[in-house]
Amino acid sequence: MRMTDEIKKAVAILHQGGIVAFPTETVYGLGADASNEAAIRRIFQAKSRPYDHPLIVHIATLNQLSDWAIEVSPQAMQLAQAFWPGPLTIILKKQRGVLDLVTGGQATIGLRMPRHPVAQQLLQAFSGGLAAPSANKFTHISPTTAAAVAEELGSQVDLILEGGMCEVGLESTIIDMSGDQPIILRPGMITVEMIAQTLQLPVASAQQEKVSQRAPGMHHLHYAPTTQTTLMGTQALIDYANSVQAKDLPMVFMVHSDLVLPMSGKLVRVNMPNRATDYAHDLYSTLRSLDHQQYQRIIIEDVPYDPEWTAIRDRLSKASGHK
Ligand code: TXA
Ligand code: MG
Repeated sequence: MRMTDEIKKAVAILHQGGIVAFPTETVYGLGADASNEAAIRRIFQAKSRPYDHPLIVHIATLNQLSDWAIEVSPQAMQLAQAFWPGPLTIILKKQRGVLDLVTGGQATIGLRMPRHPVAQQLLQAFSGGLAAPSANKFTHISPTTAAAVAEELGSQVDLILEGGMCEVGLESTIIDMSGDQPIILRPGMITVEMIAQTLQLPVASAQQEKVSQRAPGMHHLHYAPTTQTTLMGTQALIDYANSVQAKDLPMVFMVHSDLVLPMSGKLVRVNMPNRATDYAHDLYSTLRSLDHQQYQRIIIEDVPYDPEWTAIRDRLSKASGHK
C-alpha cells in the first residue's frame, strides 16, 4: 500500500509525541503513541477526560497482540480471527510494562484492530500501538466525520486525517475475555448473538452480570446532545406530538417507522432509516446536526427489541439520560 504524504506526516507527529485524529469504521479516534506517557496525557487533556477511564490500544497485526496482552485464550484468539479487522474490542490481561495511564491502573487492556483503510495505513506505517479514544470531548457524541472532529477538538489536535463518513457509526462492541467467561461490556454492531455463534458459548452482558468493573459508557449521560433528548414508544410519541402541536414550540421528532404525526406549527419530523445498520450509520451525525438547530427538545421513537438494535437502543437511552 502506498504511503500518502498525510500518513507520513501523521507518523512523524506521533513519533514526536503528538496527537492525531484518524477515521476508523466505527467512529473517529484521537490517537497517540500508546508507549509515550506524555502523549497519552495530551489525549486526556484534549478530551477533558478523567484519568481513570482506560483507553483502547489499536494494532495493525495479530503479531502485535503479545506486545500488549498475556494469557490470550483460544476463545479470545477465535474472536480476533473472526472479527478483526473490525468493530470489536477485546479486553485481555495486560502485558508487563503497559502504561497505567492507558489501562486506568487496571490489570487488563482493551485491544482492537480497525478495518478502515486509513486507520490500517496509519497503524502499519507507525508500527506500534495507538491508544485512541473517540475524538470527542468527554460525554459528547462521538464524531463520525472529520468535520465533527474539528468541531469537537479543533486546534487541540495536531492533525486530523480525512476518511469520509464512518461506515458503522457506533463505537465498537467491547468484550471482556480476561476472566472465566466472556462478558459484553459495551454493545455494538457485532452482536452478542454473533459472538456466541462464533464461540459456541453463552455470552453474558455487563448489565446482567452486575460486574463491578469500570465498564465503558456506564457513565450517566454518555453520548449526550446538549438539547434535551427523550426516547418514547411509538404510541407515547404520537400522543405527545398531539398534545404539543398547538403550543408553537420548536421540537423535532426522529422516527424510523411510517407512523402518522400531526406536523404543524414548529414541529419537525426527521425520518430515520428502518434498517439497524443504516440507522446506526446515520445516528450520531443526525443527533449532532439537530443539536445545532435550537430545538427545545429532540424526541426519538423507540427502536425494535431485536438483537441488531441493542447497541442503538443503548446509545439512545444514554443520549436521553436514562440510566
Ligand atoms: O469504536 C471504538 O471503540 C472507538 C474507536 C476510535 O476505536 N473508540 C472508543 O474509545 O470508543 P473510547 O475511549 O471512547 O471508549 C472506550 C471504552 C472506554 O469507555 C473504556 O472504559 C473502555 O473502553 N475500556 C478501555 N480499556 C478497558 C479495560 N481494560 N477494561 C474495561 N473497559 C475498558
Ligand atoms: Mg468515547
